Amino acid sequence: MPVTLPLANGSSLQNWLDRVVCGDCLDVLERLPAQSVDMIFADPPYNLQLRNELVRTDGSLVDAVDDAWDQFGSFAEYDQFTRAWLKACRRVLKDSGTIWVIGSYHNIYRVGGALQDLGYWVLNDVIWVKANPMPNFRGVRFTNAHETLLWCKKSERSTGISFNYQDMKRENGGKQMRSDWYFPICGGLERLRDADGNKVHPTQKPLGLIERVVRSSTRPGDVVLDPFAGVGTTAVAALRHGRHYIGIEQESEYCTAARERIEREQQAVTMPMLAAGA
Ligand SMILES: C[S@@+](CC[C@H](N)C(=O)[O-])C[C@H]1O[C@@H](n2cnc3c(N)ncnc32)[C@H](O)[C@@H]1O
Repeated sequence: MPVTLPLANGSSLQNWLDRVVCGDCLDVLERLPAQSVDMIFADPPYNLQLRNELVRTDGSLVDAVDDAWDQFGSFAEYDQFTRAWLKACRRVLKDSGTIWVIGSYHNIYRVGGALQDLGYWVLNDVIWVKANPMPNFRGVRFTNAHETLLWCKKSERSTGISFNYQDMKRENGGKQMRSDWYFPICGGLERLRDADGNKVHPTQKPLGLIERVVRSSTRPGDVVLDPFAGVGTTAVAALRHGRHYIGIEQESEYCTAARERIEREQQAVTMPMLAAGA
């Protein structure tokens, strides 16, 4: 159940910073001040359209994304939702800001069309190559081993975009950073699990991937907004690099998990300083 929004319409930006707000992003975005955020990272529902359970060749069930938040009645309904949140994001994005949207073949082409129709200007499409993808269990298609990130500015004429070219070059061993990024899918200690060992969120993104997004296209002190915050991966990436975050997530279970994760991250950051007597 979503919890009540704590912030009133027109609340100053300061009141929004470094919080995960639990609510529908269409309602919450309306309340944020116009032109207030420097970068948006969005990982929207994929609209996977899974009709049947996915079964492996040995008969076991695949833990697929079949959650209510990923269900739309038709492509038209998904497109309407996509246009609505992209439009709301454009209002809160500074003219010099950029937006990243990640998606798979199920949705990224529709999202790309909507971005362009709304006036956004594509700067790059970055391919996240999954070092350890899930196999195609039935062996009837290629293994789906990547997702696409679209990086856009607000319009063709937008200027003053942040791109930390030299940092990216350094990160790539002294050569220009390319648009194919290799990261494993989220696993190990980074993957949030409940007491029974089940994944807390079915599509938690790898922190390394979003940290690179943050490092490449924001400056310290910037405000990073994530309208589909899930378990707070973008917030943690922003925290790690001295940026502010605003997360919006409609499922209260994920909001709680995100807030607890952020608290653990803050403790991990402050503990060494306390230990050093700072
Ligand atoms: C693909 S997941 C994002 C996962 C996230 N990047 C992470 O690493 O944890 C999409 C999220 O959007 C949330 N969501 C879907 N529709 C929403 C809406 N209208 N407003 C806010 N959140 C929404 C879902 O509950 C889900 O957690």
